[in-house]
Amino acid sequence: TRVAVLISGSGTNLQALMEQVKKPSSSAEIVVVISNRPGVMGLKRASMAGIQTRVVDHKLYGSRAEFDGTIDKVLEEFGVELVCLAGFMRILTGPFVRKWSGKMLNIHPSLLPSFKGVNAQKQALQAGVRVTGCTVHFVAEEVDAGAIVVQEAVPILVTDTEDSLSERIREAEHRAFPAALELVGSGAVKLRDDGRIVCEDFK
Ligand code: GRF
Repeated sequence: TRVAVLISGSGTNLQALMEQVKKPSSSAEIVVVISNRPGVMGLKRASMAGIQTRVVDHKLYGSRAEFDGTIDKVLEEFGVELVCLAGFMRILTGPFVRKWSGKMLNIHPSLLPSFKGVNAQKQALQAGVRVTGCTVHFVAEEVDAGAIVVQEAVPILVTDTEDSLSERIREAEHRAFPAALELVGSGAVKLRDDGRIVCEDFK
């Protein structure tokens, strides 16, 4: 499966995905890394790994639709079959999300549907929950609401700060996202038209 990874920053999830696809058992190949911000660490990680990169700077576009249209052109140029949003901090428009429905995954640093939106780690801390985690889900038009593929739970310690908790969640992300990439990239897990997950081996 030809995979594109979209990033906005450090790219530690990208790094985990690049290591995953290098395994002989992997059914995926990362063919391009696209960033909406120039000069971020994630672009250096991709280049070091010999993966082609593109920058589509959202500040240069007059509308979300034009920005998404340019992203889509790059995806088509590389014959991409699966998109992974790895710390990609842009909301995508309906037409783009619909076109890539069932072929686009996102990672979110909480156990959805709890704590949607930004600073999910801080929301969990402030809610006083003792367990949070990360979620890899198919991207749907409603933000942070698509069908869930993989989750991993993470304990919250009484000594936790937003930083210490975020670091522990990120370690879980680096296991959950590669696992989800293989499940979807191999075709074992698909998104049904009714928005539910279907597992090929248990139909
Ligand atoms: C991660 O915490 C992820 O949960 C969120 O964006 C952050 C960026 O991670 N979506 P990185 O750029 O992959 O290091």
